[in-house]
Amino acid sequence: MLHPSRCGAAAALVLCSLTAEAASLKVSCSGLGQELELCRSAAGAWARKTGNEVEIVSTPNDGTERLALYQQVLSARSDKIDVFQIDVVWPGLLAAHLADLGPLAKGTQKAHFDGMVANNTVDGKLVAMPWFTNAGLLFYRRDLLEKHGQKVPVTWDELKASATKIQAAERAAGNDKMWGYVWQGRAYEGLSCNALEWVASFNGGTVVDSSGKVTVNNPKAATALQTAASWVGTISPKAVLNYGEEESRGVFQAGHAVFMRNWPYAWSLGQGADSPVKGKIGVAVLPKGGADGRHAATLGGESLAVSKYSKHPQLAAELVLYMTSAEVQKQRALKASYNPTIGALYKDADITAANPFMADLYETFTNAVARPATVTGARYNQVSNEFWNAAHDTLSGRAQAPAALKKLDGALNRFGRGGRWK
Ligand code: GLC
Repeated sequence: MLHPSRCGAAAALVLCSLTAEAASLKVSCSGLGQELELCRSAAGAWARKTGNEVEIVSTPNDGTERLALYQQVLSARSDKIDVFQIDVVWPGLLAAHLADLGPLAKGTQKAHFDGMVANNTVDGKLVAMPWFTNAGLLFYRRDLLEKHGQKVPVTWDELKASATKIQAAERAAGNDKMWGYVWQGRAYEGLSCNALEWVASFNGGTVVDSSGKVTVNNPKAATALQTAASWVGTISPKAVLNYGEEESRGVFQAGHAVFMRNWPYAWSLGQGADSPVKGKIGVAVLPKGGADGRHAATLGGESLAVSKYSKHPQLAAELVLYMTSAEVQKQRALKASYNPTIGALYKDADITAANPFMADLYETFTNAVARPATVTGARYNQVSNEFWNAAHDTLSGRAQAPAALKKLDGALNRFGRGGRWK
């Protein structure tokens, strides 16, 4: 079949028919919230426009499991997946297997946030195009805060006090499933995101600093983890130790929690026609670790990358450029509150009307705290694995924070060989 986008001119037909066979591209997408459905519709639109085919490969919701699957496919140099949705913390882990999109992007990457482009540039190669950005947010029940005379909490202590009060009052009134605060406590990447927010909010650093020094073994980080541990079984169900994003959203959206930590995608679903909490949700920055702490949101987000082993790298790159374009990013923001990576879209009236928090919390998105992925490169997953285990041990009461952090410090220093991560 001819390739309509490149074979319009009759004179070029012979050449086109030789070089531009229609291809079937396999695209892997995560399935958190509405991701899969949106990925399918945008890839499908490109396929119809260009006369190619796309097949969507679904992957586990849990990012840690998704990474394991990708590493398996890529280390086998398999062409089973042409386009990969990759997490903001994976470029350093996967760069060796990804194509350089720089020459094909032809400068279009300049419209995206500089930080995201820098994050996706490894040894001078643009290994992925930014698709959406994320930052951890505090979702709250506006109606319940009003009903119980509470303000949006500024510190974690205030959050705990409000959550305790509302949870008790609601339960006494017969709402016996009510919890104060839900978040992501399972031992996986999502817990590293939550725990980094706690630690950074107490000014306890970012686990490994930008020079490669392991900084996590400090009293502020210990206070942060111990503070979170005090929520388990009081304002948060014990089951939170096994929650990912979707489990916490399930509880909050069903109307069974006052506060929730989650990514922006939870907004559009919570405001959906069938959502019991539609019209009752507020969004704010996550609390500070005390009066001299700071508001900290972990930087998340995803990009699209092309496998080096793809049989159709050029077409795959064209698909990636389409899916990360302003047009598709706008559709995704309107339909499912995925934050664009193109700065100009934050001034788009349709987008900010559908997602007021995108404009209100713009600074939160642009100043989000990065996980130490760039500095630790190919070792990031090991670093994060140790960090989430230390956090999980503290939350579950298996260890006290100072001991867990001392052990973590030892492990990270072994991996980091005194700051020489690469
Ligand atoms: C979201 C974020 C990603 C993060 C993951 C953790 O998908 O975009 O950056 O690693 O959640 O669960």
